[in-house]
Amino acid sequence: MPPRTTTSIPVASRIGGFVYAIRNIVAEAKRVEAAGTQVRYLNIGDPITFGFQTPPHLVEAVERALADGHNGYAPSVGIAAAREAVADECARRGMPLSADRVILTSGTSEGIELALTALAEAGDEVLVPVPTYPLYTAVLAKIGARAVFYRTDASRGWLPDLDHVRSLITPATRALVAIDPNNPTGAVYPPDVRRALVDLAEEHGIPLLADEVYADLAFDGPVKAIAMHNPDAPVITFSSLSKAYLAPGWRAGWMAVGRTERLDDVLAAVKKLADGRLCATGPMEYAITAALNGDRTHQDAFRTALRTRAELTTSRLRAIEGISVVAPTAAFYAMPKVSLPPGVTDEDYVLGLLRATGVLCVYGSGFGAKPADGFFRIVFLASPDDLGSIYDDIGRFTATFLSDRGA
Ligand SMILES: Cc1ncc(COP(=O)(O)O)c(C=O)c1O
Repeated sequence: MPPRTTTSIPVASRIGGFVYAIRNIVAEAKRVEAAGTQVRYLNIGDPITFGFQTPPHLVEAVERALADGHNGYAPSVGIAAAREAVADECARRGMPLSADRVILTSGTSEGIELALTALAEAGDEVLVPVPTYPLYTAVLAKIGARAVFYRTDASRGWLPDLDHVRSLITPATRALVAIDPNNPTGAVYPPDVRRALVDLAEEHGIPLLADEVYADLAFDGPVKAIAMHNPDAPVITFSSLSKAYLAPGWRAGWMAVGRTERLDDVLAAVKKLADGRLCATGPMEYAITAALNGDRTHQDAFRTALRTRAELTTSRLRAIEGISVVAPTAAFYAMPKVSLPPGVTDEDYVLGLLRATGVLCVYGSGFGAKPADGFFRIVFLASPDDLGSIYDDIGRFTATFLSDRGA
């Protein structure tokens, strides 16, 4: 036997930039749990873990696909019927396009990764909102491209600062990301802001990557596609069954590339990349057809449940001395701010809260916010009773935390 080396095997330096705080923070939660404190996980936006259920007709569609033997590789772009269903849905939402421009993906996540990989070289720039959904920065780090943050502003309901977006466009800009409705802020952008983002994409020839995974979960009802403001602008939309159809584990998603021929090369590049990973999850693609062509009444009940929880979250957090929050109008996230004394970070606060109470949130800097700004994200999918006791704990902890630090 040759002598055994003892040095650890090196990993690629790009891994250093691949940070996904929403899951990374779980390691600390496990330590807290091992030490005997029950952890209440408010870090991941998964409705299933809080008792919401996948609509039965979607489960049946997958069961039928499995029983009918659809267990081989699907086409790399996805099965034809589901691509048609996505194209029809895009048209209903104001973004008419042919099914040939739809690619089924392993969740919205894979669509984001395929698009960014097809668009950005190492060193290129992609405009990303801050706070952001952290997959964007993580994937860009992997590619070696640069996330350039544009402000969304809590004092203006978390709307994008359009002048800031405009000022950041350079010859190296390859894409503009918009998350509407938004995670982590729960904001829904008004028509003038949406139109301005589409106009910027059109004017500068920069693809707008429209993350619309929460489009059906605005409390006032489904939001149309951002591309409705100009279906000929370079817009690529992304969504999935994860949130509005309550099936996150299925990894059943799609991307649809706007009909402008300026995006034809990007579409071809994405298809090339999709060939390399063979296909998305085949049997689950049958549920996409069932979801988009079928009964959606579960969404009415889900939106009502979310609105109740959002209102509770807003009123209870606003009643805590030192905490402010913009009322969410969609999805299941709130991004409150705690006024921290100098030298204290959002991570100090969130880890302190976890260790003292077992309540696990994610610090705002995990979404690109400044650590001193004191933002943190709460997933408010728990029952109103559970949320009530969680907000009691947050109130007690915050009072002690701030007074211990002389705030
Ligand atoms: C804004 C946003 N985009 C994408 C995703 C990923 O969703 P999927 O499960 O469809 O990959 C999430 C999940 O939380 C999200 O919040």
